[in-house]
Amino acid sequence: MASDQEIIGRADVNDLEAILAISNQDVNETIHSVQDNAKAIFTWDYEKGARPALNKLYEKAKNSQWNGETDLDWSIEVDPTAMLMGMQGSNNAGPFLALAEMEGSPFKNFGDKEWEELGMESMNWRLSQFMHGEQGALICTAKIVETVPWIDAKYYASTQVMDEARHVEVFAKYLDEKLTGYYPINAHLKLLLDDIIEDSRWDMTYLGMQIMVEGLALAAFGFMYQIVDEPLLKQLLRYVMSDEARHVAFGVLSLKEYYAELSDAELRERQEFAFEAAVRMRDRFLQQEVWDRMGIDKRKVMHMMLQVPPEEMIFQQMLFSKIVPNCKKLGLLDASGGWLRKKFEEIGVIQFEDWVDTGEEYLTFDAVTQDREAAAAAG
Ligand SMILES: [Fe+2]
Ligand SMILES: [Fe+2]
Repeated sequence: MASDQEIIGRADVNDLEAILAISNQDVNETIHSVQDNAKAIFTWDYEKGARPALNKLYEKAKNSQWNGETDLDWSIEVDPTAMLMGMQGSNNAGPFLALAEMEGSPFKNFGDKEWEELGMESMNWRLSQFMHGEQGALICTAKIVETVPWIDAKYYASTQVMDEARHVEVFAKYLDEKLTGYYPINAHLKLLLDDIIEDSRWDMTYLGMQIMVEGLALAAFGFMYQIVDEPLLKQLLRYVMSDEARHVAFGVLSLKEYYAELSDAELRERQEFAFEAAVRMRDRFLQQEVWDRMGIDKRKVMHMMLQVPPEEMIFQQMLFSKIVPNCKKLGLLDASGGWLRKKFEEIGVIQFEDWVDTGEEYLTFDAVTQDREAAAAAG
């Protein structure tokens, strides 16, 4: 049984110096290589539909493809300031309001101009991390095509590769043409993606990517979709989510079968990996690169962020609203004496356990089919 020190590299999950010790040293690199330790697997069993749920997902995916160039209206002009104002409503501090009032806050003297600058940097940072995460998904899913032993899963994963290419493409285009360019990848996200890709076991790619990273993305896109009124980004998010819900369902449906056969010790390793991923993603949202770029004392801000009780960090908490029920459905919360349940309690996210899991939910997200049916009905 591994300790927190072994799993996440520190004994205290809130150890700020250890969090800051992980930093992206190669912000100017254009190529980053990771050792992919897996075997490519052929299967000679071509029986299509041997796994009906995966087959259904594959047929759905073939019909719900869209084109990032032509199905989004790129002629829409975007005013980033107006978009930000729309997202933050009457609260110009956005999600950082609680920090503004804390003792010794670097935000004490912030006026409208500074809040706007922070809001803009945070938005750019967030969309950039989504873009980098999408590339992680592209690579992970290409790996799944090679490593998963089931033909229905190889078929489905191949459609996800196409989906992810489209997602990288549309986020990159939006940042480039409508906003002010990219942030480099966050150090914690990079570490997590590297860990997922390096793992030799095929199911760990699914757990790290489909369940954890994409589970978080699906929740984050849903949250953003609710608050954005800029029509291009709103439509982009709606279409990306429609794909993303299938991806998470792919993870849930595949791992449900596989985990039923694993021993307790093997499940414990999966629980530890899920916990590691959860912590990396929480660390990522401390957005250290934004504080650096704005010349704000990152130690001070991040220390303050870690002081806020989890129940007050609504956005950060909501990010786990898909992950926790999906982990529950896979039996990961309660295996090994409820180890992961206790860990999720520690980081304040267990309250989502009975929310709907994505294995069932994905059909309601199919925006592409909904729009085609509406267009056909309108003649
Ligand atoms: Fe994606
Ligand atoms: Fe995805």
